[in-house]
Amino acid sequence: MGTPRILGADELDVAATILREGGLVAFPTETVYGLGAHARDSAAVRRVFAAKGRPADNPLIVHLADPHDLPDVAREVPPSAAGLAARFWPGPLTLVLDAVDDLPAVTTGGHPTVGVRVPDHPVALRLLAAAGVPVAAPSANRSGRPSPTTAAHVVADLGDRVDAVVDGGPAGVGLESTVVDARTSAPIVLREGAVTREDLSASAATGTAAAPGTRYRHYAPSCRLELCSDVVPRAAALAGQGLRVGAIVAADAQLPAEVQAIGRYRDLEELARGLYAGLRAAEELGVDVLVAPTVPEHGIGRAVMDRLRRAAAL
Ligand code: TXA
Ligand code: MG
Repeated sequence: MGTPRILGADELDVAATILREGGLVAFPTETVYGLGAHARDSAAVRRVFAAKGRPADNPLIVHLADPHDLPDVAREVPPSAAGLAARFWPGPLTLVLDAVDDLPAVTTGGHPTVGVRVPDHPVALRLLAAAGVPVAAPSANRSGRPSPTTAAHVVADLGDRVDAVVDGGPAGVGLESTVVDARTSAPIVLREGAVTREDLSASAATGTAAAPGTRYRHYAPSCRLELCSDVVPRAAALAGQGLRVGAIVAADAQLPAEVQAIGRYRDLEELARGLYAGLRAAEELGVDVLVAPTVPEHGIGRAVMDRLRRAAAL
């Protein structure tokens, strides 16, 4: 696997040209890095599925620079969906709406709907505006792996399967967008994410269904992952069995010398931001088992637990 071209945030015209001409460009968003392709170019989108090793029935999120471009990809925008867009865009909320007829089936995974969002990241917004086309972008990891929160994670997973990677530094949120089915007046959460149910509660029903992508094993590191309400004693006990142990712990936790601190956090936002980097660091350091905390399921804690459970394959 070769290395892709790395572009700085001052080279977005180059990145935009690659996208317009059917190439693949990974770029930063506020959630995680995305693997972008021209959403109307079937051949380019097919390359995205191949690069990720992604099942063909798992639809991609289409990214727009401007909420006003929504009718380019969504056939109908109910007032409730327009309200969500007005309230949360740019931001980590993906709206599932009826797709326009001329969006390629490969982009929508063969579904009659399309997921759309306007990301809240200056580099992403400038790139999308320069490209001037809707950009389909799943997370820029190999399918099943933790999502990438840095350009280096993208390169490690995809190498030159991607034509270029725009390096915009580490992603600020660290977990993916919340996906809601916004076709009805009471939108339904399909994937937990960075916009919390508390954020949505004024606008959305908290009914639950599952996005196609949530059916697959996901976010998994290659080492064993254990979830525990009390990380320090569990990590110490595992180390006592002769295992190489890593732990994700509170900033002020005292760890025994034989346990490696893979990540430290002061609050749930910081835990979310560093979670995927921690999963990747644990594999790189060659630990046998990583112990991560169970956290209260409110706010961003709900998305954190969703990802941790899937990563631990519970
Ligand atoms: O934060 C994010 O959402 C990132 C950044 C790059 O924008 N993207 C991302 O894309 O996480 P991906 O492909 O890794 O996850 C998209 C999720 C999948 O679970 C997929 O099934 C669901 O959104 N999805 C996309 N379009 C959908 C649709 N039309 N109907 C239902 N679910 C959809
Ligand atoms: Mg993904």
